[in-house]
Amino acid sequence: MNMNRGKLIGVGVGPGDPELLTVKAVKTLERVPVICAPKSSQNKPSVALSIVRGILDGRKDEHVTIEPLFPMIEDKKALKSYWAGAAELIINELDEGRDVSFITLGDPSVYSTFSYVARIIDDQGYVVEMIPGINSFTGCAASAGITLGEKDEIILVVPKVDQRLEELLQHADTAVIMKTSRHSQMLEEIINKDPRDKTVVSVQNCSMEDEKVFDGFAKKGKYLSTTIVKFNGNQDH
Ligand SMILES: C[S@@+](CC[C@H](N)C(=O)[O-])C[C@H]1O[C@@H](n2cnc3c(N)ncnc32)[C@H](O)[C@@H]1O
Repeated sequence: MNMNRGKLIGVGVGPGDPELLTVKAVKTLERVPVICAPKSSQNKPSVALSIVRGILDGRKDEHVTIEPLFPMIEDKKALKSYWAGAAELIINELDEGRDVSFITLGDPSVYSTFSYVARIIDDQGYVVEMIPGINSFTGCAASAGITLGEKDEIILVVPKVDQRLEELLQHADTAVIMKTSRHSQMLEEIINKDPRDKTVVSVQNCSMEDEKVFDGFAKKGKYLSTTIVKFNGNQDH
């Protein structure tokens, strides 16, 4: 075994604005020899890569960027083969003693492709670390100027709109719903069914140049869309 193997570092790059990177993320991206930037399509640039472009362009030393493809498909078998392919690319670098930073939108521990690839690599005995990032929904709350939780309020975070939502909402004072570009109609119906007074805010492309903050539901969606619902009635200040 090569005792000088590199380590894999999942680096959260925040929701979009490069000023929302942590100091630790910046220092790591200025130093690691390999940047792994996942992209969802051959024709579209990696969003995470565009966030750190300024840091990488400012580097004088040699570094490489690898961009494995992670298409947005549901087929589990096909997805697994993409994860395995990306893990192999990364392991090739680690075996040469090079650290690899896997950049991920928001935080690497929150619904990120990083976790699937990291598990494969971790299972093979490599060192895997994470640098947390500002996640998309706290970024969205800041852009919308609302707080997510106060006192004993319960914050619910769901990765997509599906039938589980209706029941889960009953326990939530605030609901964060991700990937709302899909099933936006279903989301609206489920939220409207809840009899409580509520404030609904949607944020698209949070903290990016084309950020949009809507009152209510965002009808036609960009992929980077998040809806926050605050149920009123628990704020007896
Ligand atoms: C695969 S998840 C990635 C979550 C990310 N790891 C995080 O920590 O926030 C993708 C979803 O996160 C939300 N998201 C990520 N970045 C966003 C942004 N800049 N603006 C609004 N929503 C965003 C959207 O709901 C999007 O569909």
